[in-house]
Amino acid sequence: MKKVLITEFMEQDSVDKISKIFEVTYDPSLHENHENLSSLIMETDAVIVRNKTQLTEELLLKANKLSFVGRLGVGLDNIDTDFCSANGIFVQPATGMNADSVAEYVITCALSLLKNIPIAHAGTASGQWPRTSIESRELGGKTLGLLGFGTIGRKVCRLAQVFGAEVIAYDPFVQKSDVSEFNISLVEQEKLFSLSDVISIHLPLTNDTRDLINENSFNLMKRNPIIINSSRGSIVNEIDLIKAYSQNVISGFALDVYSSEPVQEDFYKQISNSMNCILTPHNSGVTSESNVRVSQFIAEKTIDFLES
Ligand SMILES: NC(=O)c1ccc[n+]([C@@H]2O[C@H](COP(=O)([O-])OP(=O)(O)OC[C@H]3O[C@@H](n4cnc5c(N)ncnc54)[C@H](O)[C@@H]3O)[C@@H](O)[C@H]2O)c1
Repeated sequence: MKKVLITEFMEQDSVDKISKIFEVTYDPSLHENHENLSSLIMETDAVIVRNKTQLTEELLLKANKLSFVGRLGVGLDNIDTDFCSANGIFVQPATGMNADSVAEYVITCALSLLKNIPIAHAGTASGQWPRTSIESRELGGKTLGLLGFGTIGRKVCRLAQVFGAEVIAYDPFVQKSDVSEFNISLVEQEKLFSLSDVISIHLPLTNDTRDLINENSFNLMKRNPIIINSSRGSIVNEIDLIKAYSQNVISGFALDVYSSEPVQEDFYKQISNSMNCILTPHNSGVTSESNVRVSQFIAEKTIDFLES
């Protein structure tokens, strides 16, 4: 019987579904135990991971029988995909399955930050009554600039347009004809910086996108935009971001992803309740609903692959 190893949390119904057909070892904390993981992976035909299991070349070299990696999410930074493709190991991300969750998160943050809700909440909860001192704005009529117009960027676009926002996007890999149904303008990156009231990032982390949002880009931006990053941490330079906020170059920011996760003290020590910012622990894609969708999708793909 083929063996499936699941090293991080997977919704139980989906684990049960795979277990009906294959021999499953399910240990949501296995990613923390390198020794056990190294030993179990030697015998497995398929491995299912989230983002904590590091499928490095060193580990994959031990996985002599491995032909399938299921990723309960979309980013593949924790998987040596070059090694996998060179060694006939198929890697299956849960493409699109948590995109609605991330898109809702982005709109939540855009609305909250335009309305200065983090500051209004902190003031009200501490007994002040900052009714007239805090500016509040609408998303309607604002320009939303999307860096990356793939699966999530498109979902954010649709939601933002419901609020009456004008959407522009920078994505050199997308043709105008591919996005004619979206009623957006594809623009160059510098133009996006100069026009956007809200900038939301939906890019993969690559050599081209690392540190993309830095002091230089802040200097090119329209006055006081809001920055939202739910993609990958190191795309935004966090030191430059905090500096831009403290110098009033930007009026708010939301981060779900960080250059180092869990977030490090030298970063979070610079955050206070009086700042118009929202920090979340890389969970924008994780909702009750997306957990089910992601797990079911990967369960089905694993079964299809191993049965074919
Ligand atoms: N925070 C979370 O929980 C969470 C959840 C899901 C996805 N993500 C991350 O969100 C990001 C976007 O996910 P997606 O599903 O929309 O990906 P996607 O591949 O569908 O879209 C990415 C888009 O970026 C474009 N792109 C690539 N390089 C670019 C560059 N240098 N400049 C401009 N555009 C470029 C691509 O053409 C593509 O259209 C990824 O980094 C993914 O890992 C995070």
